[in-house]
Amino acid sequence: MAQPLTAPAVRARKTRAGAEPLVMVTAYDAPGARIADEAGVDIILVGDSVAMVVLGYDDTLQVTVDDMAHHVAAVARAKPRALVVADLPWLSYHLGPEDAVRNAARLVRAGAQAVKLEGGRKRLPAVSAILDAEIPVMGHLGLTPQSVHALGGFKVQGKEADAARGLVTEATLLAEAGCFSIVVEAVPDVVARSVTDAVGVPTIGIGAGPACDGQVLVFHDLLGLQDRVRPKFVRQYATLKADAIAAIAAYAADVRAGRFPADAESYHLPGEAMAAAESATGLYGAGASRSA
Ligand code: KIV
Repeated sequence: MAQPLTAPAVRARKTRAGAEPLVMVTAYDAPGARIADEAGVDIILVGDSVAMVVLGYDDTLQVTVDDMAHHVAAVARAKPRALVVADLPWLSYHLGPEDAVRNAARLVRAGAQAVKLEGGRKRLPAVSAILDAEIPVMGHLGLTPQSVHALGGFKVQGKEADAARGLVTEATLLAEAGCFSIVVEAVPDVVARSVTDAVGVPTIGIGAGPACDGQVLVFHDLLGLQDRVRPKFVRQYATLKADAIAAIAAYAADVRAGRFPADAESYHLPGEAMAAAESATGLYGAGASRSA
């Protein structure tokens, strides 16, 4: 069996050094983690996107450290080979480095091997403190969904030259601070290329073009399990929501027509037990099955 992937092993996966692109996907529970792991992904991200794709919120700001720990623990119970990275939710690393370390540690105790946080320069004290506690940190730049109100919506970032230069600087700062990789979300492909060229750690893109050192997609988007939002960058590899609706509708039709459960899907008493019970109690009617 392949060795579990570690944060240092991920850090070494720079494509310009000949490495294969990294594959990251989100998962929020044990079956999702097993599916992702058996598909051979490198990294499972327990993303705060759980707020939107699982818990029904309109943004990621609603999830707490308790919520994240609950989902991280479920993913960790699947014991994936992939590296498990947990999102630090909004306000869990904004109030000071000590708070950031305490919250990162909770996610590690729940089963994560690294944490991800959003932002650049402003977050360097939190990054350094978490790294000092020996917890690997993944950065996240570009469209940072926890800043949805400050950014004025879920919008492509880095379109102006200044903003693009700013992203390169922020990425360099995160890499120099010790982040083992950096997610780059919703930026023009050329900007993601500049960021990727500028840093010595892998970039993992989502809506950031092909030049990144890896790609990430949200589980429910990739599998077509949700259709509430469909950003341009999502490639949907399956239509599981439609398949699930069809399957449950077929089950409902079978129940209503008396086709489910069938004899083979029912438990039966062996013949003698049936006869004994019948003569003792007169309990079972004529239609009861006798085969075990
Ligand atoms: O929460 C999440 O799913 C993420 C990815 C989109 C990178 O942060």
